[in-house]
Amino acid sequence: MVGHTGSGKTTLAQVMAALLPPTGGKVRLWDSEWTYPRELPLELRRRIGFVFQFPEHQFFAETVFDEVAYAVRNFGLDNVEGRVRAALETVGLPFMQFKDRSPFSLSGGEKRKVALASVIVFDPDVLVLDEPSAGLDGESKVEFWNWLWRYRARGKTVVFITHWLEEAARSDKVIVLSAGHVLFYDDPVKVFSHASTMKRIGLEPPLAAEVVYELQKKGTFPWVLDLDKLLEALEEYALWP
Ligand SMILES: Nc1ncnc2c1ncn2[C@@H]1O[C@H](COP(=O)(O)OP(=O)(O)OP(=O)(O)O)[C@@H](O)[C@H]1O
Ligand SMILES: [Mg+2]
Repeated sequence: MVGHTGSGKTTLAQVMAALLPPTGGKVRLWDSEWTYPRELPLELRRRIGFVFQFPEHQFFAETVFDEVAYAVRNFGLDNVEGRVRAALETVGLPFMQFKDRSPFSLSGGEKRKVALASVIVFDPDVLVLDEPSAGLDGESKVEFWNWLWRYRARGKTVVFITHWLEEAARSDKVIVLSAGHVLFYDDPVKVFSHASTMKRIGLEPPLAAEVVYELQKKGTFPWVLDLDKLLEALEEYALWP
């Protein structure tokens, strides 16, 4: 999900996850409709994991262990320590080193990782992430994306918000929001072919999309979004040695 600042990404994501009531329309979660202020039944709540844009707003426990263990206990799952350990190791926080620390005393990137661990610890079917890569360094980002792809390969659904369109270009579908409305909801290649509209609403297209956009002005050129495919296409069109 992409869109300029204030376009409604966080709001829509929270409505999707039944954390915020809609002012219009309906929220359907699998076979049931969610009507505010009814609490979601625990078995549905367990199927959706939401990681907030500002993870520190979500923290309440005194230790990282209790923070990550909260949902496991709340949902009555077994093997609390094993699950917490696995979730922390998955996000790259060594268990022994972090379990007794206060979540409030962590760095921005570490807080983000704890917030993620506190959700993946219960293995939700749908993972909704509000700007998950913000605050992560290059290496953590790559590891995180690789993990996300493995999660998806297990048949899970991942919805994420990002300001970095190169990240969005790799997903199955892209939602573009503008001023509280869905402008596009389509395959990345189709969405990014609207390069001038994207620019007009303040979104910087991926580098490959920019090059293709310019080449298309000179004649027909296929829509590709990643650099490897772009190089292949350039070669085919004899524009690259
Ligand atoms: N609780 C609220 N009550 C009223 N208006 C709100 C509330 N939360 C957000 N808004 C407004 O709704 C609009 C969309 O906000 P939202 O947080 O969904 O944007 P966003 O696309 O996530 O932006 P960003 O990229 O800055 O995170 C903004 O104009 C914001 O000021
Ligand atoms: Mg937001």
